[in-house]
Amino acid sequence: MQRIFSGIQPSGIPTLGNYLGAMRNWAALQADHECIYCVVDLHAITQWQQPADLMRQTREMTASLLACGIDPKAHILFNQSAVSAHARLAWIFFSVTRLGWLNRMTQFKDKAGKDRENVSAALYVYPSLMAADILAYHATRVPVGEDQRQHVELANDIAQKFNHDYGVEFFPHIEPLILGPAARVMSLRDGTKKMAKSDPSDQSRINLSDDADTIALKIRRAKTDPEPLPDDMQGLEGRPEARNLIGIYAAFTDTDHAGVLRDHGGEGFGKFKEALTVLLVEKLAPIAAETKRWLDDPASIDAVLRDGAARAAVLADPIVAEAERLVGFLSARG
Ligand code: AMP
Ligand code: TRP
Repeated sequence: MQRIFSGIQPSGIPTLGNYLGAMRNWAALQADHECIYCVVDLHAITQWQQPADLMRQTREMTASLLACGIDPKAHILFNQSAVSAHARLAWIFFSVTRLGWLNRMTQFKDKAGKDRENVSAALYVYPSLMAADILAYHATRVPVGEDQRQHVELANDIAQKFNHDYGVEFFPHIEPLILGPAARVMSLRDGTKKMAKSDPSDQSRINLSDDADTIALKIRRAKTDPEPLPDDMQGLEGRPEARNLIGIYAAFTDTDHAGVLRDHGGEGFGKFKEALTVLLVEKLAPIAAETKRWLDDPASIDAVLRDGAARAAVLADPIVAEAERLVGFLSARG
């Protein structure tokens, strides 16, 4: 059975983009994979987080994942900082990673913006920590949204260079799993920008905690052009907002863009948005309710994370200990 690893930052309420690009696929993959899912609090602090917010958001993200159907007994769900293997292997990988590789990372450029001199050093080496997350488990499959493809490729470069430098075949090759018609959900206000937890405008995204009225309002206000839905894929060229809403609809009806256009081509966006709203409310309301149920009992969330961290450490510790031995570290454990 293939081992899967993936992570999500507890830096806010998960969005529809997180759900369709990652969380929903994570749940589905549990049927035939060994899955390790991680709330990546080490990654979150690469940008400032109020400590009390970080604790709350770590529990909220865990509750959302449980509500999306992650099974913490059959699989593993934990928070990154609770397993020291991640930080230990990351340090080794910081030494393997070349600055030139990091300079090419588009997410760093986006997040740093014009303020490059003033972002944390950790934001820069963020992708090397992500490589350590995956490779500490020898995981070979990584379900993520499209925006993480470059980071998974970098993880392979790091694994290969480690193997080459130390003359071993220790770290495996990793495949990104970028699944479905909504692997890159765009902002509702601007079809050229990714939907993100961190966008200052709440109108730009659907949050998994939004109620029916909020969802309806956001979809009604979502930017579109005045043309009706086209009849074929060609008609989507140069219409990023239309493509985005159609992709979301496709993901929830288990079809693709072409399938939606077959059924709804020629329809006006007013009518299509109503159908999309019904669908979103039907699919997201149960998740919001289940998230709330978990959050009413924070001790049960903490228990899930504690148990997950203990089981994760059992898997990662020997792999990272072997990497440390290969590097030439004398071990206190002999
Ligand atoms: P993050 O919120 O950056 O920690 O992302 C967690 C997961 O959600 C990653 O697999 C991302 O690729 C995915 N993701 C985040 N935003 C989007 C989006 N707008 N569309 C699709 N997937 C996304
Ligand atoms: N960098 C990922 C994101 O922002 C989150 C992440 C951290 C991750 N470690 C990972 C994803 C390991 C997959 C595998 O979306």
